Amino acid sequence: MKIRKAVIAAAGWGTRFLPLTKTMPKEMLPLLNKPIIQYSIEELAGAGIEMAVVITSQGKRAIEDYFDRSPDLEQMLAEKGMVEKSREVRDVCNMLDVCYVRQKEQLGLGHALLAARNMIGNEPFVLVLPDDLFEYGEQVLMRMMDIHRQYGGCVLASARVADKDVTRYGIIGPEELSNRVYRVKNLIEKPSLAEAPSNLAVMGRYILTPDIFEILMNTPPGRNQEIQLTDGLQRLLKRSPMFAYEAEGERYDAGSLAGWLDATFAMALKDPVIGPELKQSIMRRLQLDNAPAKTASKDQPVLPGILN
Ligand code: G1P
Repeated sequence: MKIRKAVIAAAGWGTRFLPLTKTMPKEMLPLLNKPIIQYSIEELAGAGIEMAVVITSQGKRAIEDYFDRSPDLEQMLAEKGMVEKSREVRDVCNMLDVCYVRQKEQLGLGHALLAARNMIGNEPFVLVLPDDLFEYGEQVLMRMMDIHRQYGGCVLASARVADKDVTRYGIIGPEELSNRVYRVKNLIEKPSLAEAPSNLAVMGRYILTPDIFEILMNTPPGRNQEIQLTDGLQRLLKRSPMFAYEAEGERYDAGSLAGWLDATFAMALKDPVIGPELKQSIMRRLQLDNAPAKTASKDQPVLPGILN
């Protein structure tokens, strides 16, 4: 069955970015000149998805406005001869059908997904967590679709993480089937290093079969008193086979300030226009940083409070 629909989970509070996220959805944070969520939409459109259901919550209206037409802006740009810019602004809303549903209480990723149940219906679909970005996102998704076609069942994107990071992710107990393709034997949400069955972590892209909805309806709250998707997947695993694809290329975690900065620098350095200039400026700053401090103490942050 062709996968036509996707869910984008965008209901979280973005607490790691407060106070910024008090009035701005974290999915609208920029990565270069596009908001984070646009990368998800582009990836889905590129992989042939026709409709995305964005799960939002209070204070996320900027996302809807962003993917809507802006006739005045388009016209103003066209009148000023900025035809290409005008087209770019319009194209943002034509990539695929986007619809929205609100998660009315913050009760976890599994609970958020249930809000999309009626819009997805009885077909397999993609789930995207926009904070996780892949260098080759579209190809990763298409490879996952191939695996789903070949084996059926759910397919999870995954990547190897350092020992110190296993506590931050859902960790897979893998059995290798072929290059970068695994059968998932078990799955543990944010285990200790001792509990972790491997270093293979689940990374923000899932192909899910619709039976996950009925399972999540009956999954009790787990970690943090939230309905965890991983708990639902563990239950599903007992009924039907599940697979993981170890994604190729770089992966960025834009869900924390440090990770978002890292993703920004990585993308900017690869950009042919701003990359070379940015590289010069980073090198200059690193030299300054290594030079003996003349006035202010080196331990004194430039903008106090930003990094705490
Ligand atoms: C969620 C999932 C986790 C997965 C991670 C990927 O965790 O629960 O299994 O590994 O996304 O980013 P969260 O980042 O919401 O804590």
